[in-house]
Amino acid sequence: MPAISCSAPGKVILCGEHAVVYQKPAIAIPVFECSTKCSIIAKPTAPHDETIIIAPNIALKCHLGCLIEKHPIRVAINLVLEKLALDHLPVCEIRIESTLPTAAGLGSSASTSVALIRSLSTFLGHPFADEEVNQVAYEIEKIHHGTPSGIDNTVVTFAKTLYFIKGQPYEFLMPGKPITLIIADTGIKSSTSKVVLEVKQNYLEYPTKFERLFNQVGDISVSVKKAFLTGDLQLIGKLLTENHLLLQEMGVSCDKLNELVDCALLNGALGAKLCGGGQGGNMIALVNADQAESIAAALKTKGAVNTIITHLPAKG
Ligand code: MEV
Repeated sequence: MPAISCSAPGKVILCGEHAVVYQKPAIAIPVFECSTKCSIIAKPTAPHDETIIIAPNIALKCHLGCLIEKHPIRVAINLVLEKLALDHLPVCEIRIESTLPTAAGLGSSASTSVALIRSLSTFLGHPFADEEVNQVAYEIEKIHHGTPSGIDNTVVTFAKTLYFIKGQPYEFLMPGKPITLIIADTGIKSSTSKVVLEVKQNYLEYPTKFERLFNQVGDISVSVKKAFLTGDLQLIGKLLTENHLLLQEMGVSCDKLNELVDCALLNGALGAKLCGGGQGGNMIALVNADQAESIAAALKTKGAVNTIITHLPAKG
């Protein structure tokens, strides 16, 4: 039997992170330059319950039975089996390979879940529809991130730019003009769940301040959506930089992120901000396509450990 392989992209949050956890709108974009691939091959001759999981980028190689019960991979497998009313997984080898950095705001956990759920349901003969994949991936995101908004699993599942409000139907967006983004990695690992929890604690302590910040970020997402649809890149850039200032005020930036944002702006970016959970991980810069290489080079000189240039084609 040939191996079943499914892939899922990474993502960036264009605007609205953290506020989106509090029902404010946000926009997320899939990133195809880095992705996760999950391959499953039946091993019918292996001894019973010897299903093996290999995930080199999280240094994991073990039998399924050795994973703790709450391990996201084990929970994902159990949820897929449950949905298909199956009581066991045929013995197989599951290999998960990702080019996404972990704990870096690029959706590595959501990408892993989506690739795994898709390949597993296909391997079991009942490929899930996107909506089912998304539903299971959201359950896994809860293990990773505590109280996720659901934006990461949704953008990664549908692999389309998304206008997202928690608990409401999402909207897919196409920009009015092509968009070029640079994604630059600070190299600082940061746990999204830790930062989300910190924001929650600060919100509880300073509700008025954080209500204002969430509302301002939400308003920015509404304006970015309009500018995105009409292709007003200058305005999107300005709004992204404003979003970064609000994220700074929320306490989710850090010196390295601020330095990279300043560097991108000084070198001609239309706007720049941290993306994802913050306090490390990646930032994004909206740039004119012909300046992308030079701004990426400046970001590397400033200490970015990696840069990715990604393009979004315009509508039509
Ligand atoms: C993480 O990509 C985005 C956050 O807003 C968390 C979430 O929405 O679940 C920080």
